[in-house]
Amino acid sequence: MNKNFFSGRVLSGVQPTGGLHLGNYLGAIKNFVPLQEKFQSLFCVVDLHAITVWQDPKDLIANKCEVAAAFIASGIDPKKSIIFNQSQVPEHTQLAWVLNCIARMGWLNRMTQFKDKAGKNKEKVSVGLYTYPILMASDIMIYKATHVPVGEDQKQHLELTRDIVQKFNNDFKKEVFPMPEPIIMKSAARIMSLRDGTKKMSKSDISEYSRIMLTDNNDEIAKKIKKAKTDAMPLPENIEELENMPEAKNLLTIYSACENKNFDEVFLKYQNRNFSDLKEDLIEVVINKLSPIREEMIKLLDNHDYLQGILDSGSLDAQKIAKKVLKEVYDVTGLNSVS
Ligand code: ADP
Ligand code: TRP
Repeated sequence: MNKNFFSGRVLSGVQPTGGLHLGNYLGAIKNFVPLQEKFQSLFCVVDLHAITVWQDPKDLIANKCEVAAAFIASGIDPKKSIIFNQSQVPEHTQLAWVLNCIARMGWLNRMTQFKDKAGKNKEKVSVGLYTYPILMASDIMIYKATHVPVGEDQKQHLELTRDIVQKFNNDFKKEVFPMPEPIIMKSAARIMSLRDGTKKMSKSDISEYSRIMLTDNNDEIAKKIKKAKTDAMPLPENIEELENMPEAKNLLTIYSACENKNFDEVFLKYQNRNFSDLKEDLIEVVINKLSPIREEMIKLLDNHDYLQGILDSGSLDAQKIAKKVLKEVYDVTGLNSVS
């Protein structure tokens, strides 16, 4: 189908910071796949975001390949979607500067991700970590993206992007940018740690048992699910009781997201039953979902030239769109050439 006939454009990004986990897959990457049938879609390996905290250059290159391999192994088809590398399309950073001058300090000061990541160390973190959401707005706006699939933790950054779009269009009295809509899959918006159901599954957790990696083998998956924290009592009779049982809720969420089943239906199957029954089945469900992806990732990672080729040609395709939008921005802002 000719991509120009699509009714909108999807863009999302994943950081190559190493260690993609089940939360990244169920909360984000898995949901990218069906969108490529409906929208022109761009999926970006956001290396410029990754370097807001220190990255060893050698690891960064390997981690970029890992994200590209995970995209393709999960079902993103490079013939249907543009898979590319953020730093290879300099228009992202060119637009980001303009947006730095549109966004207000007060807006950025509200960003909770910055507060979480900077912690008590506010004076010592990079300036890039602070302006990170503006670069993210630029990633979206440089393609005039209309839909942005992300996990729930990114919702606030999307709201900031919407504020920037509105102010830009207002300041220059022209509808240059469409208003981007977040797409947050309710079913797996936030996958929690296997060790603590109140904390999100994250690569920065010190316990390896808190997360399942996309590269974990079947034994590792089984071991981590067996060790996952649960309550002493069996699963409850009523679904409402799960509100006070975050670990149980999380295991059921993972089950329903992997199987594409309704959460309530999965709950009914396990109500009043022992956690060992749920865990045994969940091991099978997660292995069924992840092992073909892992096998495919291993094959792709062995073929570095192929992955590099996809990223290079994707970056050229992305740049064709980005150049036009940047020109329009330079035209309306008076930044274009005077000749
Ligand atoms: P991380 O948050 O692990 O550093 P990224 O920032 O690269 O990873 O996130 C990539 C995508 O994965 C984003 O859309 C983010 O919302 C999603 N994501 C990350 N962790 C989770 C989680 N625990 N549950 C659901 N989605 C998540
Ligand atoms: N900030 C996102 C995250 O940490 C990654 C990201 C960068 C992104 N640019 C984006 C997501 C643009 C969606 C759209 O997960």
